[in-house]
Amino acid sequence: MAAVFLLGLVTAANAQTSFSVGNFNALFAQDSAVLQSLKPVADSSFDFSPSDLFPKRNGDGNYHTGDITLRFRVEGEADWVDDDSAAKRQPVAALPPESDSHNLSWDLTPTLPNSNSSLRVTRSWSDLDGDLALNFTIANIDNHAIEIGSLGFPIEFNNIFQAYTAEEVTQKCSLIDPYIGLGAGYVQVTRLTGIGPNLVITPLGDSNKFEAWRNLIEPSGGSLGYMSNPFEGFFEWQVYSKAYAEKEWNGIQQWNPATSLTIPAGESSSFAFRLSVSPTIHDVESTVAKAGLPYALGVPGYVIPRDLDARIFVNSEKRVKSIDVSPAGAISVNLSDTNSGIQSPWSAYSVKPGSSAFGRATVIINYDGGLQQSVHYYITAPGPDTLAAFGEFLTTKQHYTDASDPFKRAPSVISYDNEAQDFVLQERRVWIAGLSDDGGASSFLAASMKQAYFPSEKEVQVMESFVNETLWSDLQIPTGDNTYAVRKSLFYHDVNAMPNYPYENIDWSGWESWNKETGYDAIDRAYNYVHASAAHWALYRVGRNHPELLTMNNWQWYLDHAWNTVKFCLGSGKVQYSDLGLMVETVWGLILDDLIREGWTSQASELEDLLRKRQSTWSTRPNPFGSEQPWDSTGQEGVYYWSRRHFNDTVTADKTVASIRGFDPTVAHWAYNGNARRYWDFETAGKQSRIERQVHHYGSPLNALPLLENFRNIYSSDPQAQLDSQNFHDLRIGIGGIMAGISNIDEQGFGSMAFHSWPDALKWDAYSGDYGLAFAGHTMGTATYLIQHPTFGWLSFGGNVVKSDEPVVIEPKDSLRQRIYVGSAGLYVELESGAIKDFSFYPSSGKTEVKVVPQVHQTAANTDSVFLTYTSSASRILTNGLALERGGYNVPLDGAGEKVVTFEKA
Ligand SMILES: *[C@@H]1O[C@H](CO)[C@@H](O)[C@H](O)[C@H]1NC(C)=O
Ligand SMILES: *[C@@H]1O[C@H](CO)[C@@H](O)[C@H](O)[C@H]1NC(C)=O
Ligand SMILES: *[C@@H]1O[C@H](CO)[C@@H](O)[C@H](O)[C@H]1NC(C)=O
Ligand SMILES: *[C@@H]1O[C@H](CO)[C@@H](O)[C@H](O)[C@H]1NC(C)=O
Ligand SMILES: *[C@@H]1O[C@H](CO)[C@@H](O)[C@H](O)[C@H]1NC(C)=O
Ligand SMILES: *[C@@H]1O[C@H](CO)[C@@H](O)[C@H](O)[C@H]1NC(C)=O
Repeated sequence: MAAVFLLGLVTAANAQTSFSVGNFNALFAQDSAVLQSLKPVADSSFDFSPSDLFPKRNGDGNYHTGDITLRFRVEGEADWVDDDSAAKRQPVAALPPESDSHNLSWDLTPTLPNSNSSLRVTRSWSDLDGDLALNFTIANIDNHAIEIGSLGFPIEFNNIFQAYTAEEVTQKCSLIDPYIGLGAGYVQVTRLTGIGPNLVITPLGDSNKFEAWRNLIEPSGGSLGYMSNPFEGFFEWQVYSKAYAEKEWNGIQQWNPATSLTIPAGESSSFAFRLSVSPTIHDVESTVAKAGLPYALGVPGYVIPRDLDARIFVNSEKRVKSIDVSPAGAISVNLSDTNSGIQSPWSAYSVKPGSSAFGRATVIINYDGGLQQSVHYYITAPGPDTLAAFGEFLTTKQHYTDASDPFKRAPSVISYDNEAQDFVLQERRVWIAGLSDDGGASSFLAASMKQAYFPSEKEVQVMESFVNETLWSDLQIPTGDNTYAVRKSLFYHDVNAMPNYPYENIDWSGWESWNKETGYDAIDRAYNYVHASAAHWALYRVGRNHPELLTMNNWQWYLDHAWNTVKFCLGSGKVQYSDLGLMVETVWGLILDDLIREGWTSQASELEDLLRKRQSTWSTRPNPFGSEQPWDSTGQEGVYYWSRRHFNDTVTADKTVASIRGFDPTVAHWAYNGNARRYWDFETAGKQSRIERQVHHYGSPLNALPLLENFRNIYSSDPQAQLDSQNFHDLRIGIGGIMAGISNIDEQGFGSMAFHSWPDALKWDAYSGDYGLAFAGHTMGTATYLIQHPTFGWLSFGGNVVKSDEPVVIEPKDSLRQRIYVGSAGLYVELESGAIKDFSFYPSSGKTEVKVVPQVHQTAANTDSVFLTYTSSASRILTNGLALERGGYNVPLDGAGEKVVTFEKA
């Protein structure tokens, strides 16, 4: 389609200018000529840019798409000089179109005062087959060579939640996610509705590459609250980053090697981008391919336990010339044996972690013609070893036993500072030291969930003592009108109430330093009820599957306390936020299931009534996923669970899954793949407390739960159906989020709340913080999936395909090895004790054989019978005399080390 070019009414060089190409209507601002508005032609009521807020963001230091930042030095000079087109704006100078073409060019020299004697920077927009092309040219006008040590292109689209109601946020806003993948890197801008049209920004031409993603600082204050809960702030795409890497980021291992460019005197270099529309979110990668770039698709993703054989599929018109790995030996990447069955432009590679690898590893794919792509991996210990180390760490290093603690926090599994290698017993954010809120309850929540799914005798004892002596009767109120209530914090700052306590000399003046009345005496925070009920439920489950491990109370006592804690939260009228979806409330679903399975029918129906009331409110709201924040990625888990599972509200359930797609990307980078957007909880639970994009905070595994359940529901409804690209996309994000959930655990077994993504940090936070929520999500969702992909054949997400012709044999390598999903049989099998050694699927008959063994790890409680449940639309168990009990089957191992359970086509 022809481009339409028109100047605004004022014929001055710097008038507001509109520009239309086939896929977009763009508007460039008066004076600065930055991108002010970008509307997709496919939906002209929607704007990717925050054009309605432009007047509030048109000052010095406010970044927009079209700006440029530079750090350079003239040959012979030692110091870098910074320049920045947004710092102190001057009208830029329009240049005549270079010919009769319809491109728009501006000379940015007037607004780049620090470089104007050495460099001349011009910017042009043009029509590229209906897409928008943005092209910067940097000419060296000095008579010496100039080294460009940093070159950044700010990217501004509308993620400013501050200005809108929750419904408006969903309709108007998008999230910006990077794939920091060098020449194959790109940025995706996805709408919060989860449906399109979306935007993809790819490098254009040979010189551009995506080396680093630098957070931009804007002047603080302002009515839009840049870098606050309702406004994350913006980043820039850096082509070169050496000048930062050797100064502000000195000593920090960056995602890609930091480079610079030397432009000889009199010469110039250009850096261009293409802006394309992606109709849906699962089309982002095909949009990247259409722009002529390769893309890589990792199975099961990019967080890889050492015993897992991963694969990577590369889609490229260009031939792969060679593959490099850094650090050397961390991973072996080899053309796969199965490559022969794969059609061009695909090629398949095996990805095997080195036997002692741990942590970050980068694979560089070198293509013919010089293009380089980086794929970023994170290697962990084998899943069960990781969980064993974590359980040990929690119940030893984080086991607080000081009986003289005046706040009565002992015994407990309490917050930990991994730099100080000590408990966090005093914190201005009192809950972190008070066994409550996400940031303080997480360690006991994690230790509880560890026992629910992977009980170890010693650890169960620690958790029973915690429940008997600290949770039940200190953290929870055991008698009176408020029986079962959960206190807001055991620790508080109150020199009147605690005159002899040696409070440290820290700033206790903020709102977060609750006193006795606002901390200890308050019982009104719904989020806390999830943690307490989960601790009870976990021991119920231990008692049911390993009765010999309980020594203080029986399973009935724990189940009774679990459900009553939920009932108090939902039914007492004394608890705020209980009407919202709460993190980890999938546990409440498990509690309800268990009440039903135990035949506790009156309790089950009482709970179900309370939950139904809550869900029916959600069903009337356009945007029911809210929290106490203006926008959030926390409510979706619960809203989906109840809407789909118990109350059959498919409209709400579908809308919820779509919303997750909008904030949870898949890219070839462990830190961003399956990473649901979170960016303010370092302030509530982290040691390095700041607003900062969090890598693998609890949003990753918790939002994976609905995605995976939705995947199983849809795919299972017709197991013969071909996997469609949306289902496959959901599976990849879901597994990405679940597997991400153990990347937080280090080699010593310490679990960190999240990884700091800004380039001046790129490290795990030192606090355990709220990691327990992520770990809970991980344990509730971890599973090994087998699917047949139309292009790639038999694929496992979470396990190793050890044989790919009939029968297809899979060894689970996920951290629990208690759940398998067989796509073609629509079969989801879950174990409550024991583990799955392998399973075989017979495509010809639809039969599945599951080999069960007594334990997943030598530290896990042993069992002489494995308890198993399953759901399937297309298979049924061959009972061979096994009786249905508690909604499942007890499979005696009869002293044998293993047993096969068979499912046949129904
Ligand atoms: C503008 O158009 C002319 C003529 O088609 C072309 O030579 C030039 O490269 C274009 N400039 C940009 C920056 O796209
Ligand atoms: C560069 O910018 C400075 C500051 O605005 C100005 O004083 C100077 O005249 C400019 N030099 C050139 C060559 O444009
Ligand atoms: C960007 O503009 C420069 C100067 O007009 C031109 O040489 C270069 O080819 C353009 N790059 C792309 C990718 O169009
Ligand atoms: C597999 O890849 C690694 C590097 O990724 C290389 O060192 C090794 O030689 C390759 N092995 C085979 C059999 O090609
Ligand atoms: C449970 O805790 C209470 C109160 O601290 C204590 O008296 C009792 O001995 C504990 N029970 C067991 C079995 O340790
Ligand atoms: C769930 O609702 C759908 C309509 O949204 C209906 O077709 C289906 O029969 C319902 N299922 C159950 C179990 O009630």
